[in-house]
Amino acid sequence: MVEKGVEIAPASGKLGILLVGLGAVSTTFVAGVEAIRKGTAKPIGSLTQMGTIRLGKRTDNRSPKIKDFVPLADLNDIVFGAWDIFPDSAYDAALHAGVLEKSLIEDLREQLDSLKPMAAVFSQHYVKRLNGTNVKTGKNKMELAEQIIEDIARFKAEKGCERLVIVWAASTEIFLEKSAVHQTIEAFEKGLYDDDEQIAPSMIYAYAALKSGVPFANGAPNLSVDIPALTHLAEQNNVPICGKDFKTGQTLMKTIIAPGLKSRMLGLDGWYSTNILGNRDGEVLDDPESFKTKEESKLSVLEHILQPEVYPELYKDFSHVVRINYYPPRGDNKEGWDSIDIFGWLGYKMQIKIDFLCRDSILAAPLCLDLALFLDLAQRAGMKGIQEWLSFYFKAPQTAPELYPEHDIFIQLMKLKNTLRHLKGEDLITHLGLEYYD
Ligand SMILES: NC(=O)c1ccc[n+]([C@@H]2O[C@H](COP(=O)([O-])OP(=O)(O)OC[C@H]3O[C@@H](n4cnc5c(N)ncnc54)[C@H](O)[C@@H]3O)[C@@H](O)[C@H]2O)c1
Repeated sequence: MVEKGVEIAPASGKLGILLVGLGAVSTTFVAGVEAIRKGTAKPIGSLTQMGTIRLGKRTDNRSPKIKDFVPLADLNDIVFGAWDIFPDSAYDAALHAGVLEKSLIEDLREQLDSLKPMAAVFSQHYVKRLNGTNVKTGKNKMELAEQIIEDIARFKAEKGCERLVIVWAASTEIFLEKSAVHQTIEAFEKGLYDDDEQIAPSMIYAYAALKSGVPFANGAPNLSVDIPALTHLAEQNNVPICGKDFKTGQTLMKTIIAPGLKSRMLGLDGWYSTNILGNRDGEVLDDPESFKTKEESKLSVLEHILQPEVYPELYKDFSHVVRINYYPPRGDNKEGWDSIDIFGWLGYKMQIKIDFLCRDSILAAPLCLDLALFLDLAQRAGMKGIQEWLSFYFKAPQTAPELYPEHDIFIQLMKLKNTLRHLKGEDLITHLGLEYYD
């Protein structure tokens, strides 16, 4: 039986994607979209562009591309904007990031040079290792939020955008815990006027986005929009939000492998993960306070997938260690090692070693694209507040307070695709399959 589906406004006109932070991830994302638009590259790694979705029974042979199934913004309708604490254009920032070959960057010079960042809301208190000059000043944090709200409105008008989405791809801030000022919209707004130290710049951007009715995705592990005051504001203003921390590299591998071990009831004694990377993100994460934010995000994954409380004989008290070492020669080409100690039948021990020579920003860029397009879709479909169906993209998925996050990447993908089927009034796929044998 096909349900009715949800009314979705068409994706007409331009979609502005505003990036907080114009560093390695953002410039790799922008350059990639420009190269795809020119026809010199393919959108590899992007589910919205390359993925298909099965509809109906396996015998129906209906598997359209996701972008042909739900009305997503066309890549040619995207306009980019950004904020950064450094005034470099996307061209200079891409050269500095050192992710892409110089020849590719030169090929896109005109497009990249035209993207110049607006002045940022920043304080070194929250990111100790950086210091830039392209920074706003104001008499309090509320005034800074108002300046971001003005930036958003000006960008929309100047670029003639129908709709906007904001993606946080700026540096990881120091670890903050949810406190009283984060609990209600009123307390948060008072905190903005009082310059409360518990309100980080990322929360100021998120507040400005929600006040402007603009969806917000948080690609870093800092709290940002993951506080009750802002989730309430998102619901109140009918704005979809999601986070936290793009799931790339080592954690991506973890959420692919751990569900497989658990599905075969193989036990785990320990999982040791270490990384070396030498980009600016690595430098920021070299500061213990920023690393703590990242560590919390990376550590939560295995506990939730393996459920030691349900399977104590297999997963009680396993040791899980995560390290990130700043090692400049590697640049953006991170190396992630995992040493996994497992046990099987009769308790016999085995080991798995992974050495993932990955490219952080190459893995993250398509996630920026998908998140921007899906959040825009969500808004046009009348969805608001936390978008748990986008957990697929995050290391520490944001969920309703009473729920634990779903980390298993295969369940996340099923959730995402079933949400799209639901939006379009198609049957959800359960994989039961008994009907083929009736
Ligand atoms: N690359 C990945 O695989 C990956 C995965 C998960 C999360 N992340 C997160 O994404 C973020 C971006 O990563 P990156 O490699 O591009 O880092 P990067 O250091 O190259 O870029 C971050 C940029 O943000 C800017 N910035 C810092 N604070 C700002 C502020 N308050 N306002 C505006 N700009 C600000 C910095 O100047 C810098 O240009 C980091 O937080 C990182 O932890 C990246």
